Amino acid sequence: MNPIYTSLRFPYTRPRRLRRREAIRDLVAQVSIDPRKLVLPIFINDSVSSPTPINALKGHKYYPPQSKELIELIQRALELDVHSFLLFGIPSFKDSIGSAAFSREGPIQKALRFIRSELNDEPILFADLCICSYTDHGHCGLIMNKNGSIVIDNDSTLDVYKKIAVSLAENGADFVAPSGMMDGQVRAIREALDSHGFTDIGIMSYSVKYASSFYTPFRLAMDSSPRFGDRRSYQMDFRNAEEAVKEAIIDVEEGADIIMVKPALMYLDVIYMLKKVLQYVPLAAYSVSGEYMMIELMIENGYLDRDRGLLEIATAVFRAGADIMITYHALDIAMILSR
Ligand code: PBG
Repeated sequence: MNPIYTSLRFPYTRPRRLRRREAIRDLVAQVSIDPRKLVLPIFINDSVSSPTPINALKGHKYYPPQSKELIELIQRALELDVHSFLLFGIPSFKDSIGSAAFSREGPIQKALRFIRSELNDEPILFADLCICSYTDHGHCGLIMNKNGSIVIDNDSTLDVYKKIAVSLAENGADFVAPSGMMDGQVRAIREALDSHGFTDIGIMSYSVKYASSFYTPFRLAMDSSPRFGDRRSYQMDFRNAEEAVKEAIIDVEEGADIIMVKPALMYLDVIYMLKKVLQYVPLAAYSVSGEYMMIELMIENGYLDRDRGLLEIATAVFRAGADIMITYHALDIAMILSR
């Protein structure tokens, strides 16, 4: 830690000298945002035939898996130097095990093939790996009746995750991103990928995912709310910070290439801590749908300056220690930076 400069010990120090002009402020700034560190989530919906606004996520749209508009969106992002995309799928049917998630004709699979055929290796494609939008019960794991009570069963879910991982890799994902918070999911997925020859396909694990109330707009957009109960038996308790280290270390040992903290803004302490403990693993922070809408509604009501506000928030996430930021504002931020 640096010594603290006080006017008592350094009577000639005037911090404002470093703030006199823009160029001087830029010279001494410690954090700068690079659009190549941003990831844009994209919603692929099997039931739409043209881009359709998502009411819950202002300004975002559902894209058909094989549409020219999807390609145009990605091209626009690439031009702004945003190279990474996180694909979420909304299937045309749901069942108890989420089988559309590992079908060759699933929404993400079709989109992956189409994007690859149009744009080759230019975009970095992350595919979300979960079943909550594919199951009729809306949970991220399989439901089982154990001694008269309904539980989300860990180990049988892993078998489904393995199939999804292989299917996503087969259709062109660079990284799979397991978000279901089942124990052992990274190991299971790594083994499945390796045994099918996909040793180059990476895993970005939602390692530190809290049971947050800030996922509501996303769940409305994905139609993925749990039909009964909640996710607190698998997502983390937000009263715990150090537990994040345990979750992250487990995932790294199981083979995660990139780890993630989610949500971002209320969890900057967790991001900060993880970066100190695990400097050697790229750390992503996911600024989730509720954060996005909170910011959007402030802007809409005139309570937040759009450009300055978005940069301040992104800067805070990187300043806390994130290497990568997943944000629904990725294009907005890139556009501000390009001006
Ligand atoms: C679940 C999943 C969630 C998000 C991404 N994948 C949340 C949840 O329902 O638990 C949230 C993303 C957001 O709110 O932006 N597999």
